[in-house]
Amino acid sequence: MRRGSAPSQLVRRPARPDTECMSREREHAHPVFAQVYRLVAAAGERGGFAQVRASVLADASGRLLILGLGPGHDLAHLPAAVTSVVAVEPDPSMRALARGRVTACPVPVTLLSADAHALPLADGSVDAVLCACVLCSVAQPPRALAELRRLLVSGGRLLLLEHVAAPPGHWVGRLQQLLQPVWGRAAGGCSVRRDTWGAVAAAGFDVTAVRTAMVWPNLPPVAPTVLGTAVNR
Ligand SMILES: C[S@@+](CC[C@H](N)C(=O)[O-])C[C@H]1O[C@@H](n2cnc3c(N)ncnc32)[C@H](O)[C@@H]1O
Repeated sequence: MRRGSAPSQLVRRPARPDTECMSREREHAHPVFAQVYRLVAAAGERGGFAQVRASVLADASGRLLILGLGPGHDLAHLPAAVTSVVAVEPDPSMRALARGRVTACPVPVTLLSADAHALPLADGSVDAVLCACVLCSVAQPPRALAELRRLLVSGGRLLLLEHVAAPPGHWVGRLQQLLQPVWGRAAGGCSVRRDTWGAVAAAGFDVTAVRTAMVWPNLPPVAPTVLGTAVNR
């Protein structure tokens, strides 16, 4: 299969492709943030985040969905057990930044413009999903997580690498509360105040192996970080 072409048995066609696609692209277009994030993500890779990404991705195998691909750094850390990737990215600027890494990826990658709330993929069509710094940005995490459960096979793995809210009363939590109004506008709708562990557990995943830690180089306000593998039971 050519890179960038969608396998027909996997991808469902939207009802009104042109209108849906245009309004989604408008809603998710953050060209300035994409350029800032390009620099931040590249610096993060050099500063130790590459190893963190690789350790989270080590649990992936088979057909992997990457939600919110961004500039695509995760594609450089896929374990050999991953056989194909569907990468979802609604922001056209981010997709443009990811193209080189999509082309260089050693396994077939299908890059889709789609929204986490309504993914054009068939039930039980993926073995693993990666959410890296994306559940902070989706508008309705419970709806997105319900979609991920639908797409995952039973026993499928949800790999998490997400910055979350600090515990109540902690100084980092107060900093997050203070910065959130400006941060959300500047960083493409990102929230630094999400309880992602709680949301994933509430969605019905087994979160026994998911931990919360301070992970270098994620610094406040984008700390602490939830990382590990949740299981679709
Ligand atoms: C901070 S970037 C992280 C990119 C990448 N996952 C990484 O780890 O570098 C967040 C990404 O999530 C994407 N995103 C935001 N809302 C989304 C949604 N509703 N569905 C899918 N992706 C979304 C953004 O376009 C952006 O590329």
